[in-house]
Amino acid sequence: MLIAVDGPAASGKGTIARALARHFGLPHMDTGALYRAVGLSALDRATSLDDGPALAALAAALDLSLLEDPRLRHAATADAASRISALPAVRGALLALQRSFAAQPGGAVLDGRDIGTVIAPHAPAKLFVTASPQVRAARRHAELPGSDLDAVLADILARDARDSGRADAPLKQAPDADLLDTSEMTIDGAVQRAIHLVQSRTA
Ligand code: DC
Repeated sequence: MLIAVDGPAASGKGTIARALARHFGLPHMDTGALYRAVGLSALDRATSLDDGPALAALAAALDLSLLEDPRLRHAATADAASRISALPAVRGALLALQRSFAAQPGGAVLDGRDIGTVIAPHAPAKLFVTASPQVRAARRHAELPGSDLDAVLADILARDARDSGRADAPLKQAPDADLLDTSEMTIDGAVQRAIHLVQSRTA
């Protein structure tokens, strides 16, 4: 059972992907964390966020211990991740790792922006999780004490535009993905709906 979960920042896709993995007993990969780790590594080394070859080299030799770094969740890391993820050389360097995770014999859950379109287009179950920008900003604001709601909203809109507007593997719903708009849903409600959608695709 292979499950692809895509969607914009703060849509709830990570929470839903983790819950699906738990429910179906599958390993889970948060692919955004890979891009965040490359972004963090670039910030740490003061590598230019436009330097494709240097960033691709960082991605190819990614220090996986960075995946546990609390700085991964900082707004500056998210911004760096969104910038470096527009570079085809960086995406190419992270492709094999994601594809081999998706190819595990027992199946897997991956969440990101291009799982259903590029990483695992053959996945039988694909969810495109979204919510209005206002709802996503309010959720992120609640997670980040001391943050400014308007600044969080502006940041989300900028990331949406960058992630959807890039030429290589832009954020978009795969034609065969089920849309799950969580704007008006509780976490539990969204998870139950996601389980139901996956079951109906894999029955
Ligand atoms: O899901 P996230 O917020 O952790 O992702 C951080 C950034 O990484 C996001 O703005 C775009 C990029 N990303 C991507 O380009 N492709 C993916 N499969 C996952 C994330």
